[in-house]
Amino acid sequence: MIPAFTLEEKLVGTNIILLKRNHDFDKELWQAIDENRDFLRQYLFWVDTTNSFDNVAAVTKKFNEDWAAQTKFAYNIIDKHSGKFLGCIDIHDIDLTNHIAAIGYWLRQNKTGFGYMSDAVQTIEKAVFAKNIRRLEICCDSLNRASANVAIRNGYNYECTLKEVIFTYGEFRNREIYVKFNRHQLADK
Ligand SMILES: CC(C)(COP(=O)(O)OP(=O)(O)OC[C@H]1O[C@@H](n2cnc3c(N)ncnc32)[C@H](O)[C@@H]1OP(=O)(O)O)[C@@H](O)C(=O)NCCC(=O)NCCS
Repeated sequence: MIPAFTLEEKLVGTNIILLKRNHDFDKELWQAIDENRDFLRQYLFWVDTTNSFDNVAAVTKKFNEDWAAQTKFAYNIIDKHSGKFLGCIDIHDIDLTNHIAAIGYWLRQNKTGFGYMSDAVQTIEKAVFAKNIRRLEICCDSLNRASANVAIRNGYNYECTLKEVIFTYGEFRNREIYVKFNRHQLADK
């Protein structure tokens, strides 16, 4: 088992900064979700139930509690040069016993295609591997090639497909698992 850990509230990448999700960006978050519903809802199933600014603020509050409990670390992705909100990334499913965690993410549609998410993944991954997480996962709907490509582009290896584990919008879908190992982490003595 590795010790419980927290992450830095600010992580700096090449073109992005990751800031611990707090209420400062709730307005931009709400706008981004509301303006990108059709794009985001395909693979993010909380979009349809996010119907107001208050929903967003409540989730931010919950994520702050999760951060304090060291169970999930949610960041806003900010453009390093303009200071504009781009999207979100988080570390979840932290399993200290088995040294495992997973990454989740999304971008505003008009901010895709610039490598911002790859930058964010590389930045958060470095921070998490420094805490002795050994196995980092990116999981996505098999139809979500843009997300799978983020994993592949950043050196995550395809491991398997879980059949029909996602029930959404009236149909069962498959989930692909991509994995990167922190080869520098030593096994427990
Ligand atoms: C999944 C998602 C984050 C991918 O965004 P993205 O911008 O394609 O991801 P990247 O940051 O890796 O950028 C890659 C793209 O930028 C281009 N790019 C430009 N500069 C780049 C750079 N320096 N580094 C990497 N890619 C760069 C790549 O060529 C690629 O473009 P392409 O898709 O036209 O080939 C985005 O599609 C999204 O938010 N989808 C909706 C929500 C979602 O599905 N979330 C995941 C749930 S599992």
